[in-house]
Amino acid sequence: VHVACSAEHSNSRPELLVVTVATKENDGFRQFKRSTEKYGLDLKVFGMGIEWRGGTMETIGGGHKVNLLKENLEAYKNKDNLLIMFVDSYDLIFTDGKDAILDKFAKFDSRVVFAAEDTIWPDKSLEKKYPQVKENEKRFLNSGGFIGYAREIYEMVSYQALGDQEDDQLYYTQIFLNRALRHEWKMKLDTRAEIFQNLNFALGEVVIKYKGSYSYLYNIRTGTSPIAVHGNGPVKPEFYRISNYLADGWTTSTGCQTCNDDLLDLTDVKDADMPTVVIAMFVEMATPFLREFFDRVTKLDYPKDKIDIYLHYSVDYHSKDVKKFLEDIEGLYPSTRVISPSDNVGEQMARNWAIEECIKKNCQYLLTLESVAQITNPTLLRDLIIQNRSIIAPLLKRPGKLWSNFWGALNRDGYYARSEDYMDIVEYTKVGLWNVPFVASVLLIQGQRLPLLRDAYTNNPDLDADMSFCEKARQEVLFMYVSNRKYWGHLVYADGFDTSHLHNELFDIFNNRLDWESRYIHENYSTSLQEDVKIEMPCPDVYWFPIVSDTFCDEFVAELENYGQWSGGKNEDPRLAGGYENVPTVDIHMNQVGLEKQWLHFLGEFVRPLQEKVFTGYFHDPPNAIMNFIVRYRPDEQPLLRPHHDASTYTINIALNRPGIDFQGGGCRFVRYNCSITAPKKGWMFMHPGRLTHYHEGLRTTEGTRYIMISFVDP
Ligand code: UDX
Repeated sequence: VHVACSAEHSNSRPELLVVTVATKENDGFRQFKRSTEKYGLDLKVFGMGIEWRGGTMETIGGGHKVNLLKENLEAYKNKDNLLIMFVDSYDLIFTDGKDAILDKFAKFDSRVVFAAEDTIWPDKSLEKKYPQVKENEKRFLNSGGFIGYAREIYEMVSYQALGDQEDDQLYYTQIFLNRALRHEWKMKLDTRAEIFQNLNFALGEVVIKYKGSYSYLYNIRTGTSPIAVHGNGPVKPEFYRISNYLADGWTTSTGCQTCNDDLLDLTDVKDADMPTVVIAMFVEMATPFLREFFDRVTKLDYPKDKIDIYLHYSVDYHSKDVKKFLEDIEGLYPSTRVISPSDNVGEQMARNWAIEECIKKNCQYLLTLESVAQITNPTLLRDLIIQNRSIIAPLLKRPGKLWSNFWGALNRDGYYARSEDYMDIVEYTKVGLWNVPFVASVLLIQGQRLPLLRDAYTNNPDLDADMSFCEKARQEVLFMYVSNRKYWGHLVYADGFDTSHLHNELFDIFNNRLDWESRYIHENYSTSLQEDVKIEMPCPDVYWFPIVSDTFCDEFVAELENYGQWSGGKNEDPRLAGGYENVPTVDIHMNQVGLEKQWLHFLGEFVRPLQEKVFTGYFHDPPNAIMNFIVRYRPDEQPLLRPHHDASTYTINIALNRPGIDFQGGGCRFVRYNCSITAPKKGWMFMHPGRLTHYHEGLRTTEGTRYIMISFVDP
């Protein structure tokens, strides 16, 4: 139909000029413009760079748009075969081009067609003057979009004088409701959303559909596929969410098609020419695994002499970590600015200052990082820069949880709401670049956008810093993208982090398992679990595995020494149910220091799989152990342990320090086999049956102090 039609009218088919008013080039405008280019539409922009005099757009206003049209459309008034299509541009996207628009316009048999919506604004009293429409159709005029012949359009915008601050929608409404004018200019409303789809009060009426590499909006009430999709009024966040998909931005069969738009090419850029970045870090609460956080920042794959460091921390607890970090980076970066608790600067102010610091340094990018963000992929900074967006964040979430650093939608009060696609994004079932109303934890902001974001963190003092910033970005129509195109890291869980111990992370296996594992589990732990790997057996039925890291050993010993209440090594032991220990050691039980639960979890998660591998056929999940304790051997205290059986199904024995260096002698001898392990490796665990076969003794420690960690599993 379409082809035949255009052939038939090829001579008389009108030209089409799309016009808009945009005083600022923000991301809304850029997205709009890209859509006109994609569909080959001719576009003229009026008012760029001048001061907007049309009001805040939160109440009546917009007259400025009419006046700019009046001024600029005069030149076209005598062009007979020209259609002018006016649209708002900060919150509008095209989903098709000229042919589709002309076909649809032709069907109206009209000279001027206006967008329509469900609500009447700004003068409700005009309702009765409006013509009736069929059920499912929109009755009231919206001034965010109209299309018509150049002459009528010019006559309409110049019909009456209008103040810049007066309301454009009221202006056009009055014209439309004037029967004589309506007839003279053959005005109609697009009541079925053939061309214009206003989304306010209509979000439930549209769905995104796909056809191969094409996406389009479908109106389920009218069966139309509108071409100019407009996020009028308060539905902008939802409009921007939908526009992730529109104009073929993302489709089910091709994935993200806008991801590769406007990329910055850094492939051949020499280190010396790389953009300058201020990395601003914020430690606003006691945060587990902060050492790793800092460490990962220094490991970013980016020339350090292009990075300036800015750090605000507001908790004394972290002074040591900060000091260590500053020592580590001494001389590596051109500048380091630290704001410490004694400076008494609040989070919001410190964040505003980071923006100022970046502006002052004429930086090209500001990367803000909250201490909960563990960046495990060092390509992050490059990846985000290349993406070339005003504000972009990597998707980060708490491992295994749905908690992430972005919101897919806002509720009425501006707080978190779950969007239709939130789950798909956090679970990576949809991969791409997502324009969202709120992002936090890690943001890369283009330096050229920063002047618009000055004081953003205090822009709304009733909100917390992050929310205030995002609200400001939304007001400036700067898009905030979250990207899940790669995996860059995760969030630690810091709420309620218990800092009453010496090495608090040791206790944090439940909330931050991933970080716990990477700090404390031996780097070769999982090798033992590979199918074809043979496990060392130094004595009959005694198996030996690497299990915990050096750091674990050191922090663990220090933690228990810090606690310091070693038992006397006597038979009488009030800690035990029976009050008596047959083979006593100088030790501390895990339940004395509050590590019992963690230790049992460790047994279940890390020890049990090893046990199942070597003592095949024995399953007991979770493993149970009442006796979990660190033992201290030294010449002047208890140097050895006489032969005995353990009250266990199997026993584990983890060496916590180094034979030959931290102590001399020591080891374990299995009497029935006359076999000894005399050089227990730090961080390694041996495992042997208890009770019956493995009668054993602790060999004499002749110098220094030897520490081992013991569990009698499944007694
Ligand atoms: C709605 C209607 O769609 C609009 O026609 C009417 O003028 C006011 O109510 P809304 O979506 O709330 O508009 O406003 P917004 O999109 O913020 O502003 C309308 C348009 O004016 C923008 O899309 C843009 O094209 C232009 N504008 C607005 C500027 O050029 N500069 C500004 O500072 C503000």
